Amino acid sequence: MDRHLTDDDLAAALRRDVRAGLTATPKTLPPKYFYDERGSRLFERITELDEYYPTRAERSILRERSAEIAEATGAETLLELGAGSGEKTRLLLDGLAATLRTYVPVDVSGDFLAETVAKIAADLPALDVHGVVADYERHLPLLPAGPRRLIAFLGGTVGNFHPADRAEFLAALRATMRPGDALLLGADLVKDPSRLVRAYDDAQGVTADFNRNVLRVLNKDLGADFDVAAFEHRSVWDADNEWIEMRLRATRAQRVRVAALDLDVAFAAGEEMRTEISAKFRPAGLEADLNRAGLALTEFWTDPPGDFSLSLSVPA
Ligand code: AVJ
Repeated sequence: MDRHLTDDDLAAALRRDVRAGLTATPKTLPPKYFYDERGSRLFERITELDEYYPTRAERSILRERSAEIAEATGAETLLELGAGSGEKTRLLLDGLAATLRTYVPVDVSGDFLAETVAKIAADLPALDVHGVVADYERHLPLLPAGPRRLIAFLGGTVGNFHPADRAEFLAALRATMRPGDALLLGADLVKDPSRLVRAYDDAQGVTADFNRNVLRVLNKDLGADFDVAAFEHRSVWDADNEWIEMRLRATRAQRVRVAALDLDVAFAAGEEMRTEISAKFRPAGLEADLNRAGLALTEFWTDPPGDFSLSLSVPA
């Protein structure tokens, strides 16, 4: 395993991001802090909910298209950013088996990554599995080089970026790519807003717990004293920006102390804090984003109902 991030780096980034977010107007928190162990388990449960279609849709595309992905890319190395659910990875690894030599899962969490590496290495002894602990927003240039790399960024996580940050991320990704490399990108698509709102506000309240989990992370890692029960989950469709916004709404006026930041924060009754944007794409808009980053779209697939997309692009 390569480590480009220490626990101290992560702790410093958390302090910096939380201070910036809680002192901004309106207040925000970055979605990357949902995923401690409890949050990752809640996300796994989200992926199994009736309302949350993206994971199933993406898996069905991968199942259907992995042979075409293999054929089109002849990938020797699979780099997976934010190495996600093992099952999707397995579909890709199996599809690419004829040419693939190396699998490089990239994740900010070293513990999580060590497990993934051990499991895949045990299942596929012929594959060279090389974990990289890194933040894909900052460490793209440090990822291992090599011929015919397929960079996979799945799940629709590209939707968590603001458009300007997304442009910067895609350009940085493109800058690391050489002829023969390809990008496999999962992106959720614009659809009936009521379905989108429900996908982020399920009947069982799993997404509500997931959203509020970020407050528990701040309590645990920054010595904050958020009363988690005093915040309500909200899922809002922003029709102008075509993204879902998750928010936490203070149900009463309150003050929160964040000990590690020596920071006191006041919330007004009803005040809403944004915790995630999840942008939804139109095919033409996605292609334009890729083109602006210097990438040319070579394949664009959806699941049969057209809910979710998987695209393949190469350096233009
Ligand atoms: C893991 C970022 C793709 O935006 O759909 C799920 C996270 N948030 N339910 C998404 C999430 C609320 C998810 N991504």
